[in-house]
Amino acid sequence: MNGRRRVVIASNRVPPPPAEGAPWPAGGLVSALLPPLAAVGGLWFGWSGQAGDPDTPPQRTVTPGIDYVTIDLPEQEIADFYEGFCNRTLWPHLHGLAEQATALHREYSTYRTANRRFALALVPLLAADDLIWVHDYQLIPLGQELQRLGWRGPLGYFHHVPVPPREHWEAIPNHEALATAFTAYELVGTQTPRDRDQLRTLLPAGHGEHISAHPVGIDPQRFRQFAASHGADPLAREGDDRQILFGVDRLDYTKGIRQRLEAFERLLLRDARWRHEARFVQWAAPSRGNVPEYQAERAAVIEVAERINARFGEPHPVELDLTSHPPDEVAAGLEAADICVVTSLADGMNLVAKEFAAVHSAEHPGVLVLSDTCGAASQLTGALPVRATDVGSIEEALERALRMPWDERARRAAVLRTTVDLTTAGRWFQEFVLELERRRPGGAPTVFRW
Ligand code: G6P
Repeated sequence: MNGRRRVVIASNRVPPPPAEGAPWPAGGLVSALLPPLAAVGGLWFGWSGQAGDPDTPPQRTVTPGIDYVTIDLPEQEIADFYEGFCNRTLWPHLHGLAEQATALHREYSTYRTANRRFALALVPLLAADDLIWVHDYQLIPLGQELQRLGWRGPLGYFHHVPVPPREHWEAIPNHEALATAFTAYELVGTQTPRDRDQLRTLLPAGHGEHISAHPVGIDPQRFRQFAASHGADPLAREGDDRQILFGVDRLDYTKGIRQRLEAFERLLLRDARWRHEARFVQWAAPSRGNVPEYQAERAAVIEVAERINARFGEPHPVELDLTSHPPDEVAAGLEAADICVVTSLADGMNLVAKEFAAVHSAEHPGVLVLSDTCGAASQLTGALPVRATDVGSIEEALERALRMPWDERARRAAVLRTTVDLTTAGRWFQEFVLELERRRPGGAPTVFRW
């Protein structure tokens, strides 16, 4: 092979090309992939986010770094594949939250059909020298489908979400077929060594050595630039100098938003001091709004916030904002917050925790409260750990954070910042791609050369 391989990313969710000015999709996958792919250049393929005639040719937008190619999906397939099998079956089971998994939309065949559709649209775009890197649970069978259509080049997959205990895995319809789908890949990346070890127990014998842990990072420098470019402090309220506890998430039942608000409520009840000295700002971006479990979660989060505000009156302790915010505003919000509260019940990594760490320092310290069920907890040792299902442990951590003296805040913030500066998205991308290339028979690195 001569020259440099092109990297082809396939993921269900693709960000809009920058010039289009469309709203930014919330979620770790897009924010982790975009900076390193833009730096190395390549093709990003996936779903347009729209319903449409599946026979129309893919939409292609060429930008200086990235070619974006997307396809529409038929309306019924959005319901059965994306909202159904992916987000009402796979998502809750992979997060170990079986109670959120519906009895509807359990058809593995709809999942296979959609993945075949993606494969059929992707194949004509490929060159023999490409390296294909598939992302996340929506597209696990894509590798298999590409191979069925004749693809023989490098093929990797990254799993952005957790790998569940066996009892949750076995609740997934056709989990044996899902396990086999993983074996098409020469390299499967997981967020943590724990996920790697767990996946090894679930896949067919002999495939374990193809799995390796590659914790995803952010681009801290870029994120700091976002914060600096925003200008105004989006959390500031005139005449209000209460400490700010801040949560910013997709509105998802995995994120433990209700639990953290309930913990704050308990703290306010126990110690009246905090009614005048702390407020909780929660931004929760709309996500998967057609899915009933997400609608129920939205209603439940609103109910808790309204209950707390009604209970304690003015000044309201909770400010709930259920809109999407662009990355520069999120960065400025995280920078302005005193304490960031991340209490996911299960989370592959959680990049908000890393983004908060990036915009704080010993000179401008912030305290991170982080549940031990986030992948990020294994790296971010400067955080205050909590158990997300134990509201009492969150309450204690919130109080400890609010009372934390400056020098401890500074020490912890410095540790957090160093970690995110050393484990960037660029490094994650490079290490995965290098490992994939090396695993090819006679493989040598060509995407990254130095
Ligand atoms: C998580 C998943 C991603 C997904 C994102 C947003 O980060 O791991 O695969 O793209 O959420 O969810 P959505 O359903 O809007 O793509």
